[in-house]
Amino acid sequence: MYPYRLLIADDEPGIRFVLRETFSKEGYEIEEAENVEDAILKVKNSNFDLVIMDIKMPKVDGLEALRDIRRMKPNLPVVMITAHGNINVALEAIREGAYDYFTKPFDVAEIRIVVKRVTEKMRLVKQIEQLEAQLLQENPFDRIIGTSPRMQEVFSLIRKVITNDVTVLIYGESGTGKELVARAIHYHSFRAREPFVTVSCVAIPETLLESEMFGHEKGAFTGAHQMKPGKFELAQEGTLFLDEIGDMPLSLQAKLLRVIQERELERVGGTKTIKVDIRLIAASNKDLTECLKNGTFREDLYFRINVLPIYLPPLRERKDDIPILINHFIKYYNQKLGKYVTGVSEDTRKIMMEYSWPGNVRELENVIQRAIILSPGEILTPDLLPINVYAEPALPDITTVTGDLSVPMLERLQVIYDKLEEQMIREALKKANYRRQETADILGISRKSLHNKMEKYKLFES
Ligand SMILES: Nc1ncnc2c1ncn2[C@@H]1O[C@H](COP(=O)(O)OP(=O)(O)OP(=O)(O)O)[C@@H](O)[C@H]1O
Ligand SMILES: [Mg+2]
Repeated sequence: MYPYRLLIADDEPGIRFVLRETFSKEGYEIEEAENVEDAILKVKNSNFDLVIMDIKMPKVDGLEALRDIRRMKPNLPVVMITAHGNINVALEAIREGAYDYFTKPFDVAEIRIVVKRVTEKMRLVKQIEQLEAQLLQENPFDRIIGTSPRMQEVFSLIRKVITNDVTVLIYGESGTGKELVARAIHYHSFRAREPFVTVSCVAIPETLLESEMFGHEKGAFTGAHQMKPGKFELAQEGTLFLDEIGDMPLSLQAKLLRVIQERELERVGGTKTIKVDIRLIAASNKDLTECLKNGTFREDLYFRINVLPIYLPPLRERKDDIPILINHFIKYYNQKLGKYVTGVSEDTRKIMMEYSWPGNVRELENVIQRAIILSPGEILTPDLLPINVYAEPALPDITTVTGDLSVPMLERLQVIYDKLEEQMIREALKKANYRRQETADILGISRKSLHNKMEKYKLFES
């Protein structure tokens, strides 16, 4: 058995003696402290599994010591000993985070049960930690798939920011995995056991976003019936993920800048200053330097958050990742949907390799999920792909079409015209979610004429 280490802190030698006798017989390793200073020093310099501490000790109060220990080692359980009849102090200790308490004079059998309970719990926690560590070692960023050189660069940046508690800016097109990377950073940093909290700046009215971020006091505005802590407060000691920071209104950008610089904030309608200890990760699929140019993003804030930018390249620029992403999502959705798909056919793979994936990994994930649901067999075939994927029009190579001098110019231009028209209709269809009237409206043509053109270009879904 792993020898559990107990620290017994009590100024009465008699009590220390009884506890030592009891627990060393059971195989525990015992250390003693006869005053608070000594106890705190020992906790600081050594690894205990449990502290048993008297609340009343000379000079420094045991409650004070409890607070210090909790701050230093939040996961170390502390059991308090209180004088008989002083239940209020005992309750206070529990509120301060003591694991349990018992009163003097105590019954040794009772303490044994408490200690056993604690060590049993410790054993489970240790086991889980070991398993977690093992998992992490096997694959450091297990859920982020990609072996392309571009993703290797991303991984090496992630490794850097994991050990560096700096603000991180993640940017890249929609669906490239910004949130996934933000979570990976959090769960591999020293803040992993604290919360990961997300705020999306998109499509929220300014006042609402402000109270969402910073919280509000009771009565701060009509409808503020109760004090509400903001996301910054909820993320204390953890990570705050500010999604789509490019959409944050300018006035809030000023407030955010202050929080980043001063590490403190006030709730809306409040005057009390609250210290915040968080790591900030911001994400954007807008080009923030563009926002700087057109004045929708503050330059000083930009420099504050752009300390360590991580750029996630679009999938079309790292197509060598497509095959392993396909396999990854097939495995994932097989399990989730109870299916037994083994792979994709050769022509399906070819189509997927050639497609431009404007929605990036998210789009690929959705395409695989849909195909698995629809698939009658074990191999995914092209007919299971959405129309825009299997029939993405390649723009004609202008020189081959226009270069054939035996064809009259107008005919050659017609080929290009048709290709462009087809592409515009596809885009509009997609934008309108394949609703005919809406598509026709977008294109500024009649429904009838849209119908004819869809027939001409064979755009009806099978
Ligand atoms: N490299 C990757 N490996 C595995 N899954 C990925 C990868 N990149 C993205 N995904 C998956 O794609 C989906 C979209 O990812 P995520 O939400 O992180 O993208 P995003 O960049 O935040 O997109 P948006 O800008 O639209 O919010 C998620 O289901 C995510 O798990
Ligand atoms: Mg996102």
